[in-house]
Amino acid sequence: MVDTSDEWIRQRTGISERRIAEDDVATSDLCIHAARWAIKNAHIDPLDIEMILVATVTPDRFFPSTACYVQKGIGAKNAAAMDISAACAGFLYGLDLADGLIRSGRYNTILVVGGEIFNKIVDWNDRNTCVLFGDGAGAAVVQATDESKGILASYIGSDGDYADVDLLGIPAGGSRMPKLDKIQMNGREVFKLGVRLMPEAAQRVLRQANVSVEDIDLLIPHQANLRIIEAVGDRLGMPREKVYINVDKYGNTSAATVIIALDEAIREGRAKPGDLLLLVTFGAGLTWGSTLLRL
Ligand code: ACO
Repeated sequence: MVDTSDEWIRQRTGISERRIAEDDVATSDLCIHAARWAIKNAHIDPLDIEMILVATVTPDRFFPSTACYVQKGIGAKNAAAMDISAACAGFLYGLDLADGLIRSGRYNTILVVGGEIFNKIVDWNDRNTCVLFGDGAGAAVVQATDESKGILASYIGSDGDYADVDLLGIPAGGSRMPKLDKIQMNGREVFKLGVRLMPEAAQRVLRQANVSVEDIDLLIPHQANLRIIEAVGDRLGMPREKVYINVDKYGNTSAATVIIALDEAIREGRAKPGDLLLLVTFGAGLTWGSTLLRL
């Protein structure tokens, strides 16, 4: 379709394979699948869920929210449901909100999902973007626990000065310009911003919790590009073996990267009960977030 090569993609992005959803599959279908796994692993009843937060910028429709389709799909009749739009940072926005809502005492059980089908909004004639994205979803059940475990510190931020669609975004499809459109990106600028913003965000939660980099057992950064991941790890002073990477298998699944990586890390035994994990991400907006959690 475009002038590119497997070698260029592997060298410049670290991606060697990725998943692309069939035409008749929507984001909520992936989210429901992930949510069912999370509910099973957490040994809860869907009726226990009080809030569903779905982080996505590729919703099934503008409205109803994708979260409402997820609610129907999993039979979580007692939940309030809404979407979060924070691009690739969306899942950590969801975790931050869930953490705050649970700490407020109003909620006990919140389902946070990150899911995207970017491949329906990429321009398959644009080699700058069409080689990068994968479709996928991940989900987590967040519940109150004792203070020594779970989310120890969390931070999210954004900078609307960078809400420029030439940098990263979709120019049309909303009230500014209703016609549907495809994603566009200035990859080089986004690269530089990611390498600066993710270490800064990570440092914020380390300071909040008074934890040093040496205490971290595994860093799980947003999986957009292998070179960005390695640069973020190096800037933080993390040894390479403590940086989790799966961008090679999935590409950039936007709001889903961090939760898919966390799930895989747990299944593979790379993240074990008691481990201290540092999650960090950034995305269009610009938005960013970091979470420090004890498994
Ligand atoms: N195949 C072959 N050549 C390509 C391709 C391609 N797929 N894409 C770009 N090129 C060319 C460019 O045209 C350019 O050619 P030129 O020198 O003749 O102009 C050359 O390769 C180098 O281009 P750069 O943009 O400088 O390449 P770079 O090394 O920066 O890699 C990339 C591009 C992979 C996009 C990188 O910049 C990147 O990963 N950026 C961050 C992307 C990212 O994180 N996006 C997601 C953000 S999260 C969210 O919210 C969605």
